[in-house]
Amino acid sequence: MTRVLVTGGTGKTGSALVELLRGSGVPVRVGSRNPAADDPDAVRFDWGDPATHPAALRGVDRIFLVPPVESVDPMPMAGPFLAEAHRLDVHRVVLLGSAVVLSNAPGALELAARVRARPGWVVLRASGFMQNFLRTHPLGERIRQHGEIRTAAGDGRLGWIDARDIAAAAFALLVEPGGRREYLLTGPKALSYQDAAKIITARTGRRVRVVHIGTDEQAANYRAAGMPAGFAAALAAVEDGIRAGREEQVSTAVLDLTGRPPRTFAEFVEEHATEWAGHRPPEHWSKKDR
Ligand SMILES: NC(=O)c1ccc[n+]([C@@H]2O[C@H](COP(=O)([O-])OP(=O)(O)OC[C@H]3O[C@@H](n4cnc5c(N)ncnc54)[C@H](OP(=O)(O)O)[C@@H]3O)[C@@H](O)[C@H]2O)c1
Repeated sequence: MTRVLVTGGTGKTGSALVELLRGSGVPVRVGSRNPAADDPDAVRFDWGDPATHPAALRGVDRIFLVPPVESVDPMPMAGPFLAEAHRLDVHRVVLLGSAVVLSNAPGALELAARVRARPGWVVLRASGFMQNFLRTHPLGERIRQHGEIRTAAGDGRLGWIDARDIAAAAFALLVEPGGRREYLLTGPKALSYQDAAKIITARTGRRVRVVHIGTDEQAANYRAAGMPAGFAAALAAVEDGIRAGREEQVSTAVLDLTGRPPRTFAEFVEEHATEWAGHRPPEHWSKKDR
């Protein structure tokens, strides 16, 4: 192996992956629009600036690909990049894709198809991130500020996954040849927002209520949080699918790829308990909630 380029190397999944690769002595290149000056492995990589791509690709034979974020049409940027990776004989690309298909984003499907089509290249169809419940995401920020989750997903359930388990699965695929061309990555159990709120309350003492809203209001919330309008609408529409029960599947892929079961939502909450409140876990806290 020569070197792995981790795009989105400063993000939730990418940074966890960089840590795993470095821990195993695998040379990495950490892609970021603002590469850390004190990191010799950091390289400037900006989807919007193709002039940054050749240096990022130089000397790498594997890539973890975080596509352009908050975009409903990644292909104009990712297409030429993948063509160049193919030309350079990059023999492993692991794409961080999504289990949920955005309604107005055929480009995301095209990107996944482009990756799947190459032998050795792999698509990860990741379920919703548990990290969405942290304050870096509008969902988590709302919980922290108002103690509420506003959702159009009703009682629909999702197989929430910890981004670190996605990184672990990607790590396994980047260091071992073979495997399938696509994996659905989920946590161990599908949970509704109501289930998640109950776990947060049980583990942290912070009361979290669920307020049911319409898809249009959710799109407006996402726009207000700074997301581009098209992406906000598509993301809000995902909740229609969750409400209809289309996203509740769970898989064994994390266990199969890493040999370890994915983290439970209760474990995740415990680790991040100070995110939502300074409350202590209540007396009745017990392992049966896991
Ligand atoms: N959240 C979910 O529930 C969920 C579910 C399934 C799939 N996903 C997918 O996961 C991906 C996000 O992964 P993540 O949560 O690990 O990342 P993240 O924590 O949101 O961080 C985003 C990363 O992308 C980089 N980035 C942003 N704009 C960029 C640009 N123009 N050019 C190059 N890099 C750029 C950032 O690097 P710098 O800021 O340092 O440049 C950062 O490393 C998205 O593609 C999303 O669709 C998310």
